[in-house]
Amino acid sequence: MWKGRFAQDTDEAVINFTQSLDLDWRMARADIRGSIAHVRMLAHAGLIKAVEAVAIEDNLREIAREIESGSFTPKASLEDVHMNIESRLIEKCGAVGARLHMGRSRNDQVNTTVRLYLRKELLELWNGLEALISVILKKAEEHADVVVPGYTHLQQAQPISMGQFWMAHAQAFLRDAKRLSDAYEAVDESPLGCGALAGSTLPLDREFTRADMGFSRITENSMDTVAHRDHFTDILYFAAVFGGHVSRLSEDLIIYFSTEFGWVKLPDSFCTGSSIMPQKKNPDVLELLRGKAGQLNGALVDLLTMTKGIPLTYNRDLQDDKRSLFRTIDCLHMIFSVLPPLLARVDVDEERAGRGFSDGLILATDVAEYLVLRGIPFRTAHEKVGHAVRWCIENDRPMDKLTLAEWQALIPEVDADLPPLLSPRRSMERRDTDGGTSPRQVRAQIERAWKKLSVHEEEMSEYRKKLPDLL
Ligand code: ARG
Repeated sequence: MWKGRFAQDTDEAVINFTQSLDLDWRMARADIRGSIAHVRMLAHAGLIKAVEAVAIEDNLREIAREIESGSFTPKASLEDVHMNIESRLIEKCGAVGARLHMGRSRNDQVNTTVRLYLRKELLELWNGLEALISVILKKAEEHADVVVPGYTHLQQAQPISMGQFWMAHAQAFLRDAKRLSDAYEAVDESPLGCGALAGSTLPLDREFTRADMGFSRITENSMDTVAHRDHFTDILYFAAVFGGHVSRLSEDLIIYFSTEFGWVKLPDSFCTGSSIMPQKKNPDVLELLRGKAGQLNGALVDLLTMTKGIPLTYNRDLQDDKRSLFRTIDCLHMIFSVLPPLLARVDVDEERAGRGFSDGLILATDVAEYLVLRGIPFRTAHEKVGHAVRWCIENDRPMDKLTLAEWQALIPEVDADLPPLLSPRRSMERRDTDGGTSPRQVRAQIERAWKKLSVHEEEMSEYRKKLPDLL
């Protein structure tokens, strides 16, 4: 394409080193759609004849079909998807095809193509995230009345509703939904018409191409447009934070599924066995999910590092931006293929969860708060109950089974109304503050979460409607 200025052919090694075809071929349809918008605009602006525009568009659509059927084999020597499609167009319709690239640089073309491609991908990722959140909300509904131990420092802390556990993870994923929709908004701008860096001397109509491609707005500054990749960073940031959430959820379930805890049940179809130990049922899927955070964090750091200190405007460093971005998108699709169906089949072994309560000490805070309600300052109550805890441990007595006489010997302020309060279920039910773990609160929380989810879904389906054909 630049043979005019060069006296030597490009070195073979350089062709291999500089090509981006292996990365960008997957965006072929998006690239064609961007070219169609451009060529329609050229005709609208009187820069080519209407018949020429129609011929180019028809040929581009034909190329799309060639790609679909597998009959088009792109060449790495043409560097990227953009050059491959353009040169195929010129092959097919000669001088007319050679008019397509007027007023356009690959710098704004690459940018347009990726944004077109990403909008569709992000909407698909949204479907995955929505499915994931829906499954978790349903689990929370199913388990709202199930009491399990809650932990801090992995030490038994207070009884909780398993629904509250699910909702804790749901809240994290709902924040991810917001981040995903913010990323979408950042992607949803039309860069076409910015040219190489400074716009064009030709009377291009950027608003026309924007509308044709269904973008919400055009970018503001031609130099900034071709130079930055913030919208990629937004996606990778969403993915990295999301990866952390997946990792944490996986780890929780792995721990509760472990032989020693053993109160979470995982479906056989989402576990694997051992080649030597016949008794094993391993949570490999969750472990792989836990590990994905490494790749997702790495991708973010990769892009942040790559884009720092690059002078304005376009520099070839930026070509590699798609490597970690596409790997991230593929990784997210993989996560969404296994995590929701796995979670849908997670269950609680209530009997085993109950064994965790056998020493009754998980109710110690309840006793301290009972004393507070009797007018005892919290610090004093804390100390009194602390002594009672020590006594229970030394005398091997479960705290929730102490007789009134035993209680009164330990803490004289205790009355007959304390012992009936001391069960894990009552304890869970009585934590009824806003956002607390009582089933009533959990159900209210679930209801609000469904609403939030549907607001996101409406927003995303509005975006979906704006996507043009061919993508
Ligand atoms: N293949 C390149 C990419 O994907 C296109 C580079 C276009 N611009 C340039 N000045 N070489 O980014």
